[in-house]
Amino acid sequence: MTTETATATYKTKVTAAFNGAAATYDRLDVEFFTPMGSRLVERARPRPGERVLDVGCGLGATLLPAARLIGDEGSALGIDIAAAMIEEAGKEAERQGITNVEVRVMDGEYPDLPARCFDLVLGSYSVIFLPDARAALARYADLLADGGRIGFTSPVFTKDTFPFLPPLFTDLIPMSLLEHLPEAWHPENLHRQLHSWLEDPADLTAALEKAGFTDVEIHDEPVVQTAPSGEAWVTWSHTQGMRLLWQHLPEAEAAALRERIITALDALRGEDGRVRFEVPVRYVTARVAR
Ligand SMILES: C[S@@+](CC[C@H](N)C(=O)[O-])C[C@H]1O[C@@H](n2cnc3c(N)ncnc32)[C@H](O)[C@@H]1O
Repeated sequence: MTTETATATYKTKVTAAFNGAAATYDRLDVEFFTPMGSRLVERARPRPGERVLDVGCGLGATLLPAARLIGDEGSALGIDIAAAMIEEAGKEAERQGITNVEVRVMDGEYPDLPARCFDLVLGSYSVIFLPDARAALARYADLLADGGRIGFTSPVFTKDTFPFLPPLFTDLIPMSLLEHLPEAWHPENLHRQLHSWLEDPADLTAALEKAGFTDVEIHDEPVVQTAPSGEAWVTWSHTQGMRLLWQHLPEAEAAALRERIITALDALRGEDGRVRFEVPVRYVTARVAR
């Protein structure tokens, strides 16, 4: 398979996964994307009147709080490769009465947008899906007006954990299970191809500087993820990166994993009955170097 074909296949799979997840995405009473999106917006500080682009906006966890802060004088554009996500994001903006927002289906790796027409580019848990995110960062720098900023989040990646899950799950998902994933999705391949540059703050800073940014700030802070029960978390995990694992595990292995996770998470339930655990999140902000 050529690199172009592999990239196209990968993007088709990512698009299908998020189209399939859109109807229930972030709506299963499991808190994660919404608090993370709000925290990213707090750190990136959109100002009244600014023009904001949110890459991989999903249902608007970052886009909508940013749109509220920039007010009627500002404008926010959310782009996502999954049409079902964009449709739901549009409905959500309408439901919340937010009128300074536009949403469009677009590949965020190659944004077809005019140069220098944004003040802030955001992307929460989305640049991690771009096959060549470092090259995309340079395109985002071009989209920014002088002094413009970027802000994005990623997991705090480590080599030995399932790519999108916190360390808590390392003991629950034996590495042998990950062999059921297609080769491109093996953690070491995902890591090498997509995530290695995000792991070491020095590499990440170098990637941003090479792309035309300066004043890089990298801040790791956990989001407290909560869920009504272990079972609810497992249902939710079918709408996330872990969907890939569920899709590829043989039935018996999937059933055993499901039980193991439910038991471990239910053991974390607090007095209010909710499961709570910390997910390390990396918040990255920078300013274009002109
Ligand atoms: C984990 S979700 C995060 C969504 C949202 N930012 C949030 O915090 O809830 C990742 C999003 O990135 C989108 N995405 C993945 N690859 C993309 C690409 N090449 N261009 C634009 N969006 C992409 C997915 O469709 C999905 O909506």
